[in-house]
Amino acid sequence: MNVYDSARMADALAPLGYASVEAAESADMVIVNTCHIREKAAEKLFSELGRLKVTKQQRAEAGRQTIIAVAGCVAQAEGAEILRRASHVDIVLGPQTYHRLPEMVARAARGAGSQLDTDFPSESKFDHLPESRSPGGVSAFLSVQEGCDKFCTFCVVPYTRGAEASRPLAAVLAEADGLIARGAREITLLGQNVNAYHGQGPAHCDQGSNRADWGLGALIRRLASLPDLLRLRYTTSHPADMDEELIAAHGNEPKLMPHLHLPVQSGSDVILAAMNRRHSAEDYRKLVARLRRARSDLALTSDFIVGFPGESEADFAATLDLVRDIGFCAAYSFKYSPRPGTPAAAMENQVPETVKTERLARLQALIALQTQAFNRSMVGRVLPVLFERPGRHAGQLVGRSPYLQGVHAAAPLSLLGAVADVAIEEVHANSLAGRLSGPATRDAPHQRSNDRAMEYRSA
Ligand code: 5AD
Ligand code: SF4
Repeated sequence: MNVYDSARMADALAPLGYASVEAAESADMVIVNTCHIREKAAEKLFSELGRLKVTKQQRAEAGRQTIIAVAGCVAQAEGAEILRRASHVDIVLGPQTYHRLPEMVARAARGAGSQLDTDFPSESKFDHLPESRSPGGVSAFLSVQEGCDKFCTFCVVPYTRGAEASRPLAAVLAEADGLIARGAREITLLGQNVNAYHGQGPAHCDQGSNRADWGLGALIRRLASLPDLLRLRYTTSHPADMDEELIAAHGNEPKLMPHLHLPVQSGSDVILAAMNRRHSAEDYRKLVARLRRARSDLALTSDFIVGFPGESEADFAATLDLVRDIGFCAAYSFKYSPRPGTPAAAMENQVPETVKTERLARLQALIALQTQAFNRSMVGRVLPVLFERPGRHAGQLVGRSPYLQGVHAAAPLSLLGAVADVAIEEVHANSLAGRLSGPATRDAPHQRSNDRAMEYRSA
């Protein structure tokens, strides 16, 4: 989400003449886009601001102005504190006010003093951000939904990102068209709770009114009808919002990739209830069974928190059982991090740090074994790979398998942006390697028609 937001901030500043540079030392403005989800992420901000203070001073000695902005969820949660602790910061803005950045920059450039904007404005930033003109990649993000009303007891998102809201269908389609025109062949739909998507759009013929809510399943079907778009993904989902239409899309929409990130957080019902997750471990198992009935090769990844207040060894053992039962092919796992203002931070039965560390190591060791086994199971298979960029070695391209694994293969540049079959031969630490299976000399459909990609795959 922050990668996407950073790109949109760059779009907002492009009309003012700003363009991205590699190093902060050569930048007239530095925007630190922050994350508040765990304490460690938030701590990074102040060390980064310390470094930027020196840069700003050095540039000032050389007669150059440097505007420093802090954006994102730490800005939202701790805006006033940031300005108090770091007086060299010119702009603090929350995730809902990026469209006001140009105005704030113009004021900062005039030396109008530091500014704070952490409103939840009634106008949507999406309606005010300019369309992106920068060259896009083969794989692009598209934000369709923001915020969350779930209030898991450990989580700051409902406070920093605000209430759940979906972008209208027409806005999503317009942005998708723009991305595809600039070369995107895969779109990952983004939202804090993306499967809660309920964008307004035209009614289907059997509905009475002429406006209707579109769920994520319907949105995926609509996007999948765009001929030059080869692949769709979405992240991140909540198990409670996985409805029939979306599950069906996994079965009958081939462009929707068979890889789903579906956070479960814990395998213990006691802990899931204390987390206010609105599902039990059994609900999750049943949901995965339904998804796999729709799409038998669906690979699942998840998020886990260890050491949530009150977590016993038996609760943790239930998490390990769930990891084995579902056979997650990868997962993100974290020690519980108390976040100020959330209900869990005030719970009395906090778990000691040493216990959290030990449980995290055990969980991560199990997940690593499953990831290795999953990757090894690809050897000898032929996978369709969407090539995204040249590899480190001449004549090599890097792409992604349907399961989001990086894949290297010797392939002509003409295959950038195309899907081609690759026979997998080796497993490396973080990627797979193989060789093109079938004629390697066919042109890619890049900037042409999608039919050519399909033709290549079936050739
Ligand atoms: N402590 C640890 N992990 C957290 N997450 C969210 N809040 C916390 C917290 N307070 C994790 C959850 C979530 C992921 C994005 O971050 O696993 O799914
Ligand atoms: Fe946070 Fe996700 Fe729970 Fe929302 S559903 S409160 S974003 S963990």
